[in-house]
Amino acid sequence: MLSATTHTPIILTGDRPTGPLHLGHYAGSLRNRLALQATHTQYVLIADTQALTDNAADPGRICRNVLEVAYDYLAIGIDPSLSTICVQSALPALAELTLLYLNFVTVSRLERNPTIKDEIQARGFGRDIPAGFLCYPAAQAADITAFRATLVPVGEDQAPIIEQTNELIRRLNRQAGKELLPEAKALIPEIGRLPSIDGRAKMSKSQGNALLLSASDAEIEVAVQRMYTDPDHLRVSDPGRVEGNVVFTYLDAFDPDFQAVADLKLHYRRGGLGDAALKRRLTGILQALIAPIRERRTEVTRAPNLVMDMLRDGTAKANAVTQKTKHEIMDGLALFSLSR
Ligand code: TRP
Repeated sequence: MLSATTHTPIILTGDRPTGPLHLGHYAGSLRNRLALQATHTQYVLIADTQALTDNAADPGRICRNVLEVAYDYLAIGIDPSLSTICVQSALPALAELTLLYLNFVTVSRLERNPTIKDEIQARGFGRDIPAGFLCYPAAQAADITAFRATLVPVGEDQAPIIEQTNELIRRLNRQAGKELLPEAKALIPEIGRLPSIDGRAKMSKSQGNALLLSASDAEIEVAVQRMYTDPDHLRVSDPGRVEGNVVFTYLDAFDPDFQAVADLKLHYRRGGLGDAALKRRLTGILQALIAPIRERRTEVTRAPNLVMDMLRDGTAKANAVTQKTKHEIMDGLALFSLSR
């Protein structure tokens, strides 16, 4: 029999509050959340517990940035009446499920996760990796499954984490002998990872190569001026390279006029189109994108108490949902419960 209630698909995604969000977050996942919040049941997690896994020596930084990330969400247009914004450390079911899931994953599998491998290398951890950091894919599986999410908008670098989540889900379902939990699909933008301004790595505020969602017009202009283009494109008349050219990557990500960008690429390759003209176009596009976000951000930061109330409401709602799932998982795995 068909169910009378049609269930809207569930989204869960989140961010580590290590600093204010930047354009990389916007292109990677925030934009998808905006597009989907009206048609999906969406939960957005401020992942402060996960942020601690590599910031335990500076918890104040994480604490301060929870509110900053909440401001960013509201500024870009995440609407608390459509999306539930919640704080990870205030959701005990996530921690409990993490502990449970750690029994269903091996250390060697955790060490093989490409995202973790890359991050161990980038941070120079070696064997001194905090155990919590090595295990964060299991924690992220707990986040995703606790909400029974089937869609997870994330940046490209998170794909292996979602893959490992699905491995865990299949393992748990096998153990339970039924479909205890649905598998989740990563929703990754086609344009891939937005490069940093210098074109070297991903955007990172700590490396000073990111454009914040609160950037001023002048900061945007300076950042675009500094963007890496084609080092061999010395004269305007020279043919230029589009691949690896950060300005074009940004135009691909943010210029709404695809045809115009395609024409610009042809012109640039042919020669006769200077970097200055391209950069002027990109500066205008980014200023138009960021200005309303910056203005709304200024407004919401004037009412921190309202934002705290919004976080409390969202977290209370998320608590109810995640506790319920936790009990269903414990039942499904035939674990002991005093409430039976
Ligand atoms: N690991 C994610 C990141 O670094 C943040 C995150 C935490 C997350 N929990 C999540 C993303 C659950 C998606 C789903 O960006």
